Amino acid sequence: MSLPPRVSPSSLRSSRWFGPDDLRSFGHRSRMMQLGYSEADFMGRPIIGILNTWSDLNSCHGHFPERVKDVKRGVLQAGGLPMEMPSLSVDESFTKPTSMLYRNMLAMEVEEMIRSHPLDGVVLMGGCDKTTPGLVMGAITAGVPMIFLPAGPMLRGHYAGKILGSGSDAWKYWDERRAGNITDEEWLGIQGGIARSVGTCMTMGTASTMTSLTEAMGLSLPGASSIPAADSGHQRMGADCGRRIVDMVWEGLTPDQIITPAAVQNAAIVAMATGCSTNAVVHLIAMARRAGIDLTLDDLDALGRNTPMICNVRPSGKDYLMEDFFYAGGLRALMAQLADKLDLSALTVTGQTLGEGIAGAEVYNDDVIRPLSNPVYAEGSLAVLRGNLCPDGAVIKPAACDPKYWVHEGPAMVFDSYPQMKAAVDDENLDVTPDHVMVLRNAGPLGGPGFPEWGMLPIPKALIKQGHRDMLRISDARMSGTSYGACVLHVAPESFVGGPLALLKNGDTVRLDLPNRRLDMLVDEAELIRRRDAWTPPEPRYTRGYGFLFQTHVTQADKGCDFDFLQQSFGRAADEPDI
Ligand code: FES
Ligand code: MG
Repeated sequence: MSLPPRVSPSSLRSSRWFGPDDLRSFGHRSRMMQLGYSEADFMGRPIIGILNTWSDLNSCHGHFPERVKDVKRGVLQAGGLPMEMPSLSVDESFTKPTSMLYRNMLAMEVEEMIRSHPLDGVVLMGGCDKTTPGLVMGAITAGVPMIFLPAGPMLRGHYAGKILGSGSDAWKYWDERRAGNITDEEWLGIQGGIARSVGTCMTMGTASTMTSLTEAMGLSLPGASSIPAADSGHQRMGADCGRRIVDMVWEGLTPDQIITPAAVQNAAIVAMATGCSTNAVVHLIAMARRAGIDLTLDDLDALGRNTPMICNVRPSGKDYLMEDFFYAGGLRALMAQLADKLDLSALTVTGQTLGEGIAGAEVYNDDVIRPLSNPVYAEGSLAVLRGNLCPDGAVIKPAACDPKYWVHEGPAMVFDSYPQMKAAVDDENLDVTPDHVMVLRNAGPLGGPGFPEWGMLPIPKALIKQGHRDMLRISDARMSGTSYGACVLHVAPESFVGGPLALLKNGDTVRLDLPNRRLDMLVDEAELIRRRDAWTPPEPRYTRGYGFLFQTHVTQADKGCDFDFLQQSFGRAADEPDI
Protein backbone atom coordinates (compact mmCIF):
# COMPACT_ATOMS: atom_id res chain seq x y z
CA MET A 1 0.00 0.00 0.00
CA SER A 2 1.47 3.34 -1.01
CA LEU A 3 -0.34 5.70 1.30
CA PRO A 4 -0.89 5.11 5.02
CA PRO A 5 -4.36 3.73 5.86
CA ARG A 6 -6.69 6.49 6.94
CA VAL A 7 -10.01 4.68 7.01
CA SER A 8 -10.91 2.11 9.65
CA PRO A 9 -13.46 -0.68 9.09
CA SER A 10 -16.01 1.05 11.31
CA SER A 11 -15.63 4.33 9.42
CA LEU A 12 -16.27 2.83 6.01
CA ARG A 13 -19.10 4.59 4.22
CA SER A 14 -20.91 1.25 3.85
CA SER A 15 -20.90 0.73 7.61
CA ARG A 16 -23.57 3.44 7.81
CA TRP A 17 -25.84 0.93 6.10
CA PHE A 18 -24.64 -2.21 7.81
CA GLY A 19 -23.19 -1.21 11.19
CA PRO A 20 -25.91 0.18 13.46
CA ASP A 21 -28.04 -2.08 15.63
CA ASP A 22 -31.32 -0.64 14.40
CA LEU A 23 -34.24 -1.70 12.26
CA ARG A 24 -33.01 -0.09 9.00
CA SER A 25 -29.61 -1.74 9.24
CA PHE A 26 -31.23 -5.03 10.16
CA GLY A 27 -33.09 -4.71 6.84
CA HIS A 28 -29.87 -3.96 4.92
CA ARG A 29 -28.01 -6.90 6.49
CA SER A 30 -30.95 -9.18 5.96
CA ARG A 31 -31.07 -8.33 2.25
CA MET A 32 -27.33 -8.94 1.89
CA MET A 33 -27.97 -12.37 3.42
CA GLN A 34 -30.78 -12.85 0.90
CA LEU A 35 -28.11 -12.31 -1.75
CA GLY A 36 -26.17 -15.17 -0.24
CA TYR A 37 -23.58 -13.20 1.71
CA SER A 38 -22.66 -13.84 5.33
CA GLU A 39 -21.79 -10.94 7.61
CA ALA A 40 -18.16 -11.93 7.17
CA ASP A 41 -18.50 -11.10 3.46
CA PHE A 42 -19.70 -7.53 3.88
CA MET A 43 -19.22 -6.22 7.44
CA GLY A 44 -16.15 -4.05 7.78
CA ARG A 45 -15.03 -4.73 4.17
CA PRO A 46 -14.86 -2.16 1.37
CA ILE A 47 -17.92 -2.60 -0.83
CA ILE A 48 -16.76 -1.90 -4.36
CA GLY A 49 -19.31 -0.87 -6.97
CA ILE A 50 -18.34 -1.94 -10.47
CA LEU A 51 -20.21 0.38 -12.79
CA ASN A 52 -20.42 -1.63 -15.97
CA THR A 53 -21.58 0.10 -19.14
CA TRP A 54 -22.17 -3.17 -20.97
CA SER A 55 -25.16 -3.88 -23.18
CA ASP A 56 -25.86 -6.34 -25.99
CA LEU A 57 -26.01 -3.32 -28.27
CA ASN A 58 -22.65 -1.88 -27.23
CA SER A 59 -20.29 -3.53 -29.70
CA CYS A 60 -17.23 -1.90 -28.11
CA HIS A 61 -17.96 -3.33 -24.66
CA GLY A 62 -18.66 -6.91 -25.77
CA HIS A 63 -15.92 -8.21 -23.45
CA PHE A 64 -17.26 -6.52 -20.32
CA PRO A 65 -19.35 -9.50 -19.13
CA GLU A 66 -16.07 -11.45 -19.01
CA ARG A 67 -13.83 -8.61 -17.93
CA VAL A 68 -15.95 -7.80 -14.91
CA LYS A 69 -15.04 -11.24 -13.56
CA ASP A 70 -11.38 -10.21 -13.57
CA VAL A 71 -12.21 -7.05 -11.66
CA LYS A 72 -14.22 -9.03 -9.11
CA ARG A 73 -11.35 -11.48 -8.70
CA GLY A 74 -9.04 -8.58 -7.83
CA VAL A 75 -11.50 -7.00 -5.41
CA LEU A 76 -12.02 -10.28 -3.56
CA GLN A 77 -8.28 -10.99 -3.36
CA ALA A 78 -7.71 -7.62 -1.74
CA GLY A 79 -10.44 -8.19 0.82
CA GLY A 80 -13.28 -6.16 -0.67
CA LEU A 81 -16.71 -7.21 -1.81
CA PRO A 82 -17.46 -6.49 -5.49
CA MET A 83 -20.96 -5.41 -6.48
CA GLU A 84 -21.59 -5.08 -10.20
CA MET A 85 -24.04 -2.36 -11.13
CA PRO A 86 -25.23 -2.01 -14.72
CA SER A 87 -24.92 1.58 -15.89
CA LEU A 88 -26.41 3.36 -18.89
CA SER A 89 -24.60 1.93 -21.90
CA VAL A 90 -24.21 4.96 -24.13
CA ASP A 91 -23.02 3.24 -27.28
CA GLU A 92 -21.70 5.26 -30.16
CA SER A 93 -22.72 3.01 -33.01
CA PHE A 94 -26.47 2.74 -32.63
CA THR A 95 -27.68 5.64 -30.48
CA LYS A 96 -29.88 8.12 -32.30
CA PRO A 97 -30.03 11.03 -32.69
CA THR A 98 -26.61 11.03 -31.02
CA SER A 99 -24.92 9.48 -28.01
CA MET A 100 -23.98 12.97 -26.82
CA LEU A 101 -27.60 13.52 -25.87
CA TYR A 102 -27.11 10.88 -23.16
CA ARG A 103 -23.64 11.60 -21.74
CA ASN A 104 -25.14 13.75 -19.01
CA MET A 105 -27.82 11.14 -18.33
CA LEU A 106 -25.06 8.61 -17.63
CA ALA A 107 -23.27 11.14 -15.43
CA MET A 108 -26.45 11.74 -13.45
CA GLU A 109 -27.09 8.02 -13.09
CA VAL A 110 -23.55 7.32 -11.88
CA GLU A 111 -23.61 10.14 -9.34
CA GLU A 112 -26.97 9.15 -7.93
CA MET A 113 -26.35 5.38 -7.89
CA ILE A 114 -23.12 5.89 -5.97
CA ARG A 115 -24.67 8.38 -3.58
CA SER A 116 -27.69 6.24 -2.82
CA HIS A 117 -25.95 2.89 -2.31
CA PRO A 118 -23.58 1.41 0.30
CA LEU A 119 -20.45 1.78 -1.83
CA ASP A 120 -16.99 2.61 -0.50
CA GLY A 121 -15.26 2.83 -3.87
CA VAL A 122 -16.00 2.25 -7.54
CA VAL A 123 -14.42 0.81 -10.66
CA LEU A 124 -15.78 2.52 -13.74
CA MET A 125 -15.90 0.27 -16.81
CA GLY A 126 -16.19 2.35 -19.95
CA GLY A 127 -14.46 3.36 -23.14
CA CYS A 128 -16.89 3.81 -26.01
CA ASP A 129 -16.84 7.56 -26.57
CA LYS A 130 -19.29 9.20 -24.14
CA THR A 131 -19.07 6.49 -21.51
CA THR A 132 -15.67 7.72 -20.32
CA PRO A 133 -16.61 11.34 -19.59
CA GLY A 134 -20.09 10.32 -18.41
CA LEU A 135 -18.74 7.85 -15.86
CA VAL A 136 -15.93 10.12 -14.72
CA MET A 137 -18.10 13.24 -14.40
CA GLY A 138 -20.63 11.43 -12.22
CA ALA A 139 -17.99 9.77 -10.08
CA ILE A 140 -16.07 13.02 -9.55
CA THR A 141 -19.19 14.59 -8.10
CA ALA A 142 -20.06 11.53 -6.01
CA GLY A 143 -16.57 11.77 -4.56
CA VAL A 144 -15.81 8.20 -3.43
CA PRO A 145 -12.47 6.60 -4.43
CA MET A 146 -12.61 5.53 -8.08
CA ILE A 147 -10.57 3.89 -10.80
CA PHE A 148 -11.43 4.10 -14.47
CA LEU A 149 -11.01 0.81 -16.36
CA PRO A 150 -10.71 1.58 -20.09
CA ALA A 151 -12.32 -0.92 -22.50
CA GLY A 152 -9.19 -0.92 -24.65
CA PRO A 153 -9.01 -0.51 -28.41
CA MET A 154 -9.95 -3.15 -30.98
CA LEU A 155 -7.30 -4.93 -32.97
CA ARG A 156 -6.35 -3.34 -36.29
CA GLY A 157 -8.99 -3.66 -39.00
CA HIS A 158 -8.07 -5.82 -41.94
CA TYR A 159 -9.37 -6.64 -45.43
CA ALA A 160 -7.69 -8.01 -48.55
CA GLY A 161 -4.19 -7.18 -47.41
CA LYS A 162 -5.15 -3.68 -46.32
CA ILE A 163 -5.12 -2.36 -42.76
CA LEU A 164 -8.38 -0.59 -41.92
CA GLY A 165 -8.90 2.11 -39.30
CA SER A 166 -12.21 2.65 -37.48
CA GLY A 167 -14.27 5.45 -38.88
CA SER A 168 -11.49 7.01 -40.94
CA ASP A 169 -11.43 4.24 -43.53
CA ALA A 170 -15.23 4.01 -43.53
CA TRP A 171 -15.36 7.64 -44.66
CA LYS A 172 -12.49 7.18 -47.09
CA TYR A 173 -13.84 4.08 -48.81
CA TRP A 174 -17.38 5.48 -48.81
CA ASP A 175 -16.14 8.37 -50.93
CA GLU A 176 -14.51 5.82 -53.26
CA ARG A 177 -17.75 3.84 -53.40
CA ARG A 178 -19.68 6.99 -54.25
CA ALA A 179 -17.15 7.61 -56.99
CA GLY A 180 -17.94 4.11 -58.33
CA ASN A 181 -14.55 2.60 -57.48
CA ILE A 182 -15.62 -0.21 -55.10
CA THR A 183 -17.66 -3.35 -55.86
CA ASP A 184 -20.43 -4.80 -53.66
CA GLU A 185 -18.19 -7.72 -52.72
CA GLU A 186 -15.33 -5.45 -51.67
CA TRP A 187 -17.72 -3.28 -49.69
CA LEU A 188 -19.00 -6.32 -47.76
CA GLY A 189 -15.41 -7.36 -47.05
CA ILE A 190 -14.58 -3.92 -45.68
CA GLN A 191 -17.78 -4.01 -43.61
CA GLY A 192 -16.72 -7.26 -41.94
CA GLY A 193 -13.05 -6.40 -41.58
CA ILE A 194 -13.10 -2.88 -40.20
CA ALA A 195 -14.29 -3.92 -36.70
CA ARG A 196 -13.10 -7.48 -36.12
CA SER A 197 -12.61 -7.75 -32.35
CA VAL A 198 -14.10 -6.44 -29.14
CA GLY A 199 -12.90 -3.05 -28.01
CA THR A 200 -13.25 0.59 -28.90
CA CYS A 201 -12.40 2.28 -32.20
CA MET A 202 -8.70 1.72 -32.81
CA THR A 203 -7.90 5.05 -34.37
CA MET A 204 -7.07 7.95 -32.05
CA GLY A 205 -10.75 8.82 -32.12
CA THR A 206 -12.85 10.00 -29.23
CA ALA A 207 -12.64 6.70 -27.36
CA SER A 208 -8.85 6.41 -27.29
CA THR A 209 -8.45 10.14 -26.81
CA MET A 210 -10.72 10.11 -23.78
CA THR A 211 -9.25 6.98 -22.20
CA SER A 212 -5.73 8.36 -22.78
CA LEU A 213 -6.44 11.72 -21.22
CA THR A 214 -8.28 10.09 -18.32
CA GLU A 215 -5.15 8.04 -17.65
CA ALA A 216 -3.03 11.18 -17.97
CA MET A 217 -5.29 12.85 -15.41
CA GLY A 218 -4.30 10.09 -13.00
CA LEU A 219 -7.58 8.17 -12.96
CA SER A 220 -6.41 4.87 -14.53
CA LEU A 221 -3.56 2.52 -13.75
CA PRO A 222 -0.36 3.38 -15.67
CA GLY A 223 -0.54 2.13 -19.25
CA ALA A 224 -4.11 0.84 -18.93
CA SER A 225 -5.61 2.87 -21.77
CA SER A 226 -3.27 1.49 -24.43
CA ILE A 227 -3.86 -2.23 -23.88
CA PRO A 228 -5.94 -3.75 -26.70
CA ALA A 229 -9.22 -5.19 -25.44
CA ALA A 230 -8.36 -8.64 -26.83
CA ASP A 231 -4.91 -8.80 -25.16
CA SER A 232 -4.61 -10.98 -22.05
CA GLY A 233 -2.89 -8.00 -20.44
CA HIS A 234 -6.29 -6.40 -20.43
CA GLN A 235 -7.63 -9.17 -18.20
CA ARG A 236 -4.70 -8.73 -15.83
CA MET A 237 -5.27 -4.97 -15.78
CA GLY A 238 -8.91 -5.64 -14.82
CA ALA A 239 -7.80 -7.66 -11.79
CA ASP A 240 -5.21 -4.98 -10.93
CA CYS A 241 -8.01 -2.37 -10.89
CA GLY A 242 -9.99 -4.59 -8.51
CA ARG A 243 -7.06 -5.02 -6.15
CA ARG A 244 -6.06 -1.38 -6.24
CA ILE A 245 -9.50 0.13 -5.58
CA VAL A 246 -9.73 -1.74 -2.26
CA ASP A 247 -6.45 -0.19 -1.12
CA MET A 248 -7.64 3.22 -2.32
CA VAL A 249 -10.65 2.91 -0.02
CA TRP A 250 -8.43 2.23 2.99
CA GLU A 251 -6.18 5.10 1.97
CA GLY A 252 -9.14 7.47 1.59
CA LEU A 253 -7.76 8.42 -1.84
CA THR A 254 -10.69 10.38 -3.29
CA PRO A 255 -10.86 11.97 -6.76
CA ASP A 256 -10.52 15.52 -5.44
CA GLN A 257 -6.97 14.68 -4.35
CA ILE A 258 -6.14 13.51 -7.88
CA ILE A 259 -7.97 15.94 -10.18
CA THR A 260 -6.06 19.13 -9.52
CA PRO A 261 -5.37 21.94 -12.03
CA ALA A 262 -2.01 20.27 -12.70
CA ALA A 263 -3.70 16.94 -13.48
CA VAL A 264 -6.15 18.61 -15.83
CA GLN A 265 -3.31 20.41 -17.58
CA ASN A 266 -1.43 17.12 -17.93
CA ALA A 267 -4.54 15.62 -19.54
CA ALA A 268 -4.85 18.54 -21.95
CA ILE A 269 -1.19 18.36 -22.96
CA VAL A 270 -1.45 14.64 -23.60
CA ALA A 271 -4.62 15.21 -25.62
CA MET A 272 -2.79 17.73 -27.82
CA ALA A 273 0.21 15.48 -28.26
CA THR A 274 -1.92 12.50 -29.32
CA GLY A 275 -3.68 14.31 -32.15
CA CYS A 276 -6.84 14.07 -30.18
CA SER A 277 -10.45 14.01 -31.20
CA THR A 278 -12.10 17.43 -31.23
CA ASN A 279 -14.65 15.96 -28.82
CA ALA A 280 -11.91 15.99 -26.17
CA VAL A 281 -12.39 19.73 -25.85
CA VAL A 282 -16.03 19.45 -24.81
CA HIS A 283 -15.52 16.49 -22.48
CA LEU A 284 -12.32 17.72 -20.85
CA ILE A 285 -13.90 21.08 -20.07
CA ALA A 286 -16.95 19.31 -18.60
CA MET A 287 -14.81 16.93 -16.50
CA ALA A 288 -12.60 19.75 -15.22
CA ARG A 289 -15.58 21.87 -14.28
CA ARG A 290 -16.97 18.96 -12.26
CA ALA A 291 -13.74 19.14 -10.27
CA GLY A 292 -14.21 22.88 -9.82
CA ILE A 293 -11.51 23.76 -12.37
CA ASP A 294 -12.46 26.37 -14.96
CA LEU A 295 -10.62 25.13 -18.03
CA THR A 296 -11.33 27.37 -21.05
CA LEU A 297 -11.00 27.09 -24.81
CA ASP A 298 -8.26 29.71 -24.69
CA ASP A 299 -6.30 27.60 -22.16
CA LEU A 300 -6.53 24.69 -24.58
CA ASP A 301 -5.45 26.77 -27.57
CA ALA A 302 -2.44 28.06 -25.61
CA LEU A 303 -1.45 24.52 -24.63
CA GLY A 304 -1.98 23.44 -28.23
CA ARG A 305 0.43 26.05 -29.54
CA ASN A 306 3.17 24.72 -27.28
CA THR A 307 2.60 20.99 -27.61
CA PRO A 308 3.88 19.15 -30.67
CA MET A 309 1.71 16.34 -31.96
CA ILE A 310 4.00 13.32 -31.61
CA CYS A 311 1.58 10.40 -31.86
CA ASN A 312 1.54 9.07 -35.41
CA VAL A 313 -1.82 7.36 -35.03
CA ARG A 314 -4.62 8.02 -37.49
CA PRO A 315 -6.62 10.09 -38.21
CA SER A 316 -4.33 13.01 -37.33
CA GLY A 317 -1.25 10.82 -37.72
CA LYS A 318 -0.68 9.17 -41.03
CA ASP A 319 0.27 5.59 -40.66
CA TYR A 320 -0.61 3.72 -37.50
CA LEU A 321 -3.40 2.49 -35.24
CA MET A 322 -3.80 1.93 -31.49
CA GLU A 323 -2.43 -1.61 -31.66
CA ASP A 324 0.80 -0.20 -33.09
CA PHE A 325 0.78 2.48 -30.40
CA PHE A 326 0.59 -0.23 -27.72
CA TYR A 327 3.51 -2.15 -29.24
CA ALA A 328 5.48 1.10 -29.50
CA GLY A 329 5.25 1.60 -25.74
CA GLY A 330 1.79 3.07 -25.34
CA LEU A 331 0.74 6.10 -23.36
CA ARG A 332 3.45 5.71 -20.72
CA ALA A 333 6.10 6.01 -23.43
CA LEU A 334 4.31 8.97 -24.99
CA MET A 335 4.13 10.73 -21.62
CA ALA A 336 7.82 10.02 -21.06
CA GLN A 337 8.54 12.01 -24.26
CA LEU A 338 6.49 14.87 -22.80
CA ALA A 339 8.12 14.66 -19.36
CA ASP A 340 9.46 18.22 -19.50
CA LYS A 341 5.99 19.60 -20.20
CA LEU A 342 3.99 17.55 -17.70
CA ASP A 343 3.68 18.06 -13.96
CA LEU A 344 5.17 14.75 -12.90
CA SER A 345 4.38 15.37 -9.24
CA ALA A 346 0.64 14.92 -9.88
CA LEU A 347 -0.89 12.14 -7.77
CA THR A 348 -2.59 9.21 -9.51
CA VAL A 349 -4.89 6.37 -8.46
CA THR A 350 -1.78 4.31 -7.70
CA GLY A 351 -1.08 6.58 -4.74
CA GLN A 352 2.15 7.45 -6.52
CA THR A 353 2.98 10.33 -8.81
CA LEU A 354 2.55 10.44 -12.56
CA GLY A 355 6.34 10.53 -12.80
CA GLU A 356 6.64 7.26 -10.85
CA GLY A 357 4.00 5.75 -13.14
CA ILE A 358 6.00 6.44 -16.28
CA ALA A 359 9.46 5.72 -14.86
CA GLY A 360 11.40 3.43 -17.17
CA ALA A 361 8.91 3.74 -20.04
CA GLU A 362 10.61 3.34 -23.40
CA VAL A 363 9.63 4.00 -26.99
CA TYR A 364 10.05 0.86 -29.11
CA ASN A 365 9.12 2.45 -32.44
CA ASP A 366 9.96 6.11 -32.82
CA ASP A 367 7.95 6.44 -36.00
CA VAL A 368 4.77 5.70 -34.02
CA ILE A 369 5.68 7.70 -30.91
CA ARG A 370 7.89 10.45 -32.21
CA PRO A 371 10.54 12.37 -30.28
CA LEU A 372 9.71 16.05 -29.73
CA SER A 373 12.42 16.82 -32.28
CA ASN A 374 10.51 14.99 -35.04
CA PRO A 375 6.82 15.62 -34.47
CA VAL A 376 4.00 14.67 -36.84
CA TYR A 377 2.84 18.26 -36.58
CA ALA A 378 4.72 21.04 -34.83
CA GLU A 379 1.81 22.39 -32.83
CA GLY A 380 -0.90 20.50 -30.96
CA SER A 381 -3.75 18.90 -32.74
CA LEU A 382 -6.49 21.39 -31.98
CA ALA A 383 -6.85 25.09 -32.53
CA VAL A 384 -9.53 27.42 -31.22
CA LEU A 385 -10.93 30.10 -33.52
CA ARG A 386 -12.74 33.35 -32.75
CA GLY A 387 -14.40 35.86 -35.00
CA ASN A 388 -17.74 37.30 -35.98
CA LEU A 389 -19.00 33.82 -36.88
CA CYS A 390 -18.00 32.28 -33.54
CA PRO A 391 -17.66 34.87 -30.75
CA ASP A 392 -17.58 32.12 -28.09
CA GLY A 393 -15.21 29.96 -30.07
CA ALA A 394 -14.98 27.17 -32.61
CA VAL A 395 -12.56 24.30 -32.97
CA ILE A 396 -10.51 22.95 -35.87
CA LYS A 397 -8.04 20.11 -36.20
CA PRO A 398 -5.32 21.59 -38.41
CA ALA A 399 -3.25 18.41 -38.48
CA ALA A 400 -6.12 16.49 -40.08
CA CYS A 401 -6.81 18.90 -42.94
CA ASP A 402 -5.07 19.87 -46.15
CA PRO A 403 -2.79 22.85 -45.28
CA LYS A 404 -4.08 24.76 -48.31
CA TYR A 405 -7.24 25.45 -46.29
CA TRP A 406 -5.44 26.97 -43.30
CA VAL A 407 -5.97 30.35 -44.91
CA HIS A 408 -9.01 30.34 -47.15
CA GLU A 409 -11.68 32.67 -48.45
CA GLY A 410 -14.75 31.50 -50.34
CA PRO A 411 -18.49 31.84 -50.84
CA ALA A 412 -20.79 30.21 -48.28
CA MET A 413 -23.16 27.42 -49.27
CA VAL A 414 -25.51 27.23 -46.30
CA PHE A 415 -27.78 24.38 -45.22
CA ASP A 416 -30.36 24.64 -42.44
CA SER A 417 -30.74 20.92 -41.84
CA TYR A 418 -28.94 17.64 -42.42
CA PRO A 419 -31.55 16.29 -44.91
CA GLN A 420 -31.30 19.50 -46.96
CA MET A 421 -27.52 19.18 -47.05
CA LYS A 422 -27.63 15.47 -47.90
CA ALA A 423 -29.90 16.04 -50.88
CA ALA A 424 -27.53 18.71 -52.18
CA VAL A 425 -24.29 16.73 -51.80
CA ASP A 426 -25.85 13.77 -53.63
CA ASP A 427 -26.84 16.00 -56.57
CA GLU A 428 -24.25 15.42 -59.29
CA ASN A 429 -25.17 18.73 -60.91
CA LEU A 430 -24.80 20.87 -57.78
CA ASP A 431 -23.30 24.26 -58.63
CA VAL A 432 -20.31 24.08 -56.30
CA THR A 433 -16.60 24.81 -56.59
CA PRO A 434 -13.68 23.61 -54.44
CA ASP A 435 -13.47 27.17 -53.07
CA HIS A 436 -16.99 27.04 -51.65
CA VAL A 437 -17.38 26.91 -47.88
CA MET A 438 -20.06 24.40 -46.94
CA VAL A 439 -22.02 25.37 -43.84
CA LEU A 440 -24.44 23.29 -41.78
CA ARG A 441 -26.34 24.98 -38.99
CA ASN A 442 -28.97 23.95 -36.43
CA ALA A 443 -26.69 21.05 -35.54
CA GLY A 444 -25.46 22.16 -32.09
CA PRO A 445 -26.38 21.06 -28.56
CA LEU A 446 -29.96 22.34 -28.86
CA GLY A 447 -30.34 22.42 -32.61
CA GLY A 448 -29.17 18.88 -33.46
CA PRO A 449 -30.61 18.10 -30.98
CA GLY A 450 -27.89 16.71 -28.74
CA PHE A 451 -24.85 18.04 -30.65
CA PRO A 452 -24.56 15.25 -33.26
CA GLU A 453 -21.38 14.24 -35.08
CA TRP A 454 -22.39 15.73 -38.41
CA GLY A 455 -19.48 18.13 -38.72
CA MET A 456 -17.51 16.23 -41.35
CA LEU A 457 -19.99 17.30 -44.00
CA PRO A 458 -19.76 14.96 -47.00
CA ILE A 459 -17.93 16.38 -49.99
CA PRO A 460 -20.51 16.98 -52.78
CA LYS A 461 -20.59 14.21 -55.38
CA ALA A 462 -20.02 16.84 -58.03
CA LEU A 463 -16.58 17.57 -56.51
CA ILE A 464 -15.74 13.95 -55.68
CA LYS A 465 -16.08 13.09 -59.37
CA GLN A 466 -13.60 15.84 -60.17
CA GLY A 467 -11.13 14.23 -57.75
CA HIS A 468 -11.55 16.56 -54.77
CA ARG A 469 -11.46 15.00 -51.29
CA ASP A 470 -11.39 18.02 -48.97
CA MET A 471 -12.98 21.46 -48.73
CA LEU A 472 -13.62 24.01 -45.98
CA ARG A 473 -16.69 23.08 -43.95
CA ILE A 474 -18.23 24.87 -40.97
CA SER A 475 -20.92 23.79 -38.54
CA ASP A 476 -22.12 24.06 -34.98
CA ALA A 477 -22.01 20.25 -34.83
CA ARG A 478 -19.28 17.98 -33.48
CA MET A 479 -17.52 15.41 -35.60
CA SER A 480 -16.41 11.89 -34.89
CA GLY A 481 -12.92 11.64 -33.50
CA THR A 482 -12.12 9.34 -36.39
CA SER A 483 -13.03 12.03 -38.93
CA TYR A 484 -10.68 14.33 -40.78
CA GLY A 485 -10.66 17.23 -43.20
CA ALA A 486 -10.92 21.01 -43.11
CA CYS A 487 -13.87 21.06 -40.73
CA VAL A 488 -14.58 23.93 -38.34
CA LEU A 489 -16.76 22.62 -35.53
CA HIS A 490 -18.51 23.54 -32.26
CA VAL A 491 -19.32 27.07 -33.45
CA ALA A 492 -20.58 28.85 -30.33
CA PRO A 493 -23.08 30.16 -29.64
CA GLU A 494 -24.91 27.73 -31.92
CA SER A 495 -27.26 29.02 -34.62
CA PHE A 496 -30.35 27.50 -32.97
CA VAL A 497 -30.06 29.97 -30.08
CA GLY A 498 -29.28 32.89 -32.38
CA GLY A 499 -25.52 32.65 -32.71
CA PRO A 500 -24.16 34.62 -35.69
CA LEU A 501 -23.98 31.47 -37.81
CA ALA A 502 -27.78 31.88 -38.04
CA LEU A 503 -27.26 35.14 -39.96
CA LEU A 504 -25.01 33.78 -42.71
CA LYS A 505 -26.48 33.68 -46.24
CA ASN A 506 -25.58 31.81 -49.40
CA GLY A 507 -22.86 33.63 -51.27
CA ASP A 508 -21.50 35.60 -48.29
CA THR A 509 -17.73 35.47 -48.20
CA VAL A 510 -16.31 33.45 -45.32
CA ARG A 511 -12.69 33.77 -44.29
CA LEU A 512 -10.64 31.31 -42.25
CA ASP A 513 -7.26 32.53 -41.01
CA LEU A 514 -5.89 29.69 -38.93
CA PRO A 515 -2.48 31.22 -38.08
CA ASN A 516 -4.35 34.15 -36.53
CA ARG A 517 -7.13 31.92 -35.17
CA ARG A 518 -9.89 33.87 -36.94
CA LEU A 519 -13.16 32.81 -38.55
CA ASP A 520 -15.26 35.61 -40.01
CA MET A 521 -18.02 36.35 -42.48
CA LEU A 522 -17.14 39.41 -44.50
CA VAL A 523 -20.52 41.05 -44.09
CA ASP A 524 -20.80 44.59 -42.79
CA GLU A 525 -22.13 45.29 -39.34
CA ALA A 526 -25.23 47.24 -40.45
CA GLU A 527 -26.33 44.34 -42.64
CA LEU A 528 -25.78 41.88 -39.78
CA ILE A 529 -27.96 44.03 -37.51
CA ARG A 530 -30.70 44.02 -40.18
CA ARG A 531 -30.48 40.24 -40.43
CA ARG A 532 -30.58 39.82 -36.66
CA ASP A 533 -33.73 41.93 -36.42
CA ALA A 534 -35.37 39.68 -39.02
CA TRP A 535 -34.30 36.42 -37.31
CA THR A 536 -36.91 34.41 -35.41
CA PRO A 537 -35.95 31.59 -33.05
CA PRO A 538 -36.96 28.10 -34.17
CA GLU A 539 -39.48 26.02 -32.23
CA PRO A 540 -37.92 24.01 -29.36
CA ARG A 541 -37.17 20.42 -30.35
CA TYR A 542 -38.87 18.83 -27.32
CA THR A 543 -41.90 19.54 -25.18
CA ARG A 544 -41.53 16.59 -22.79
CA GLY A 545 -39.21 13.91 -21.42
CA TYR A 546 -35.45 13.72 -21.11
CA GLY A 547 -35.02 15.80 -24.26
CA PHE A 548 -36.93 18.61 -22.58
CA LEU A 549 -34.66 18.41 -19.53
CA PHE A 550 -31.63 18.41 -21.85
CA GLN A 551 -32.71 21.44 -23.87
CA THR A 552 -33.69 23.37 -20.75
CA HIS A 553 -30.37 22.90 -18.96
CA VAL A 554 -27.55 22.05 -21.37
CA THR A 555 -24.70 24.56 -21.63
CA GLN A 556 -23.04 25.56 -24.90
CA ALA A 557 -20.00 23.82 -26.41
CA ASP A 558 -17.44 26.19 -24.92
CA LYS A 559 -18.75 25.34 -21.42
CA GLY A 560 -18.63 21.57 -21.91
CA CYS A 561 -22.36 20.91 -22.51
CA ASP A 562 -22.92 19.78 -18.94
CA PHE A 563 -26.31 20.54 -17.42
CA ASP A 564 -26.14 23.84 -15.56
CA PHE A 565 -27.57 22.26 -12.40
CA LEU A 566 -24.96 19.48 -12.39
CA GLN A 567 -21.99 21.82 -12.45
CA GLN A 568 -19.98 21.94 -9.28
CA SER A 569 -20.58 25.65 -8.85
CA PHE A 570 -24.37 25.30 -8.95
CA GLY A 571 -25.02 24.43 -5.34
CA ARG A 572 -24.84 21.29 -3.28
CA ALA A 573 -26.80 18.08 -3.07
CA ALA A 574 -28.66 17.40 0.16
CA ASP A 575 -26.59 15.68 2.83
CA GLU A 576 -26.97 11.94 2.61
CA PRO A 577 -29.97 11.21 4.84
CA ASP A 578 -29.11 8.93 7.73
CA ILE A 579 -32.19 6.74 7.41
FE1 FES B 1 -17.48 2.62 -29.62
FE2 FES B 1 -16.10 4.03 -31.59
S1 FES B 1 -18.08 3.12 -31.66
S2 FES B 1 -15.55 3.61 -29.54
MG1 MG C 1 -16.65 8.22 -32.27
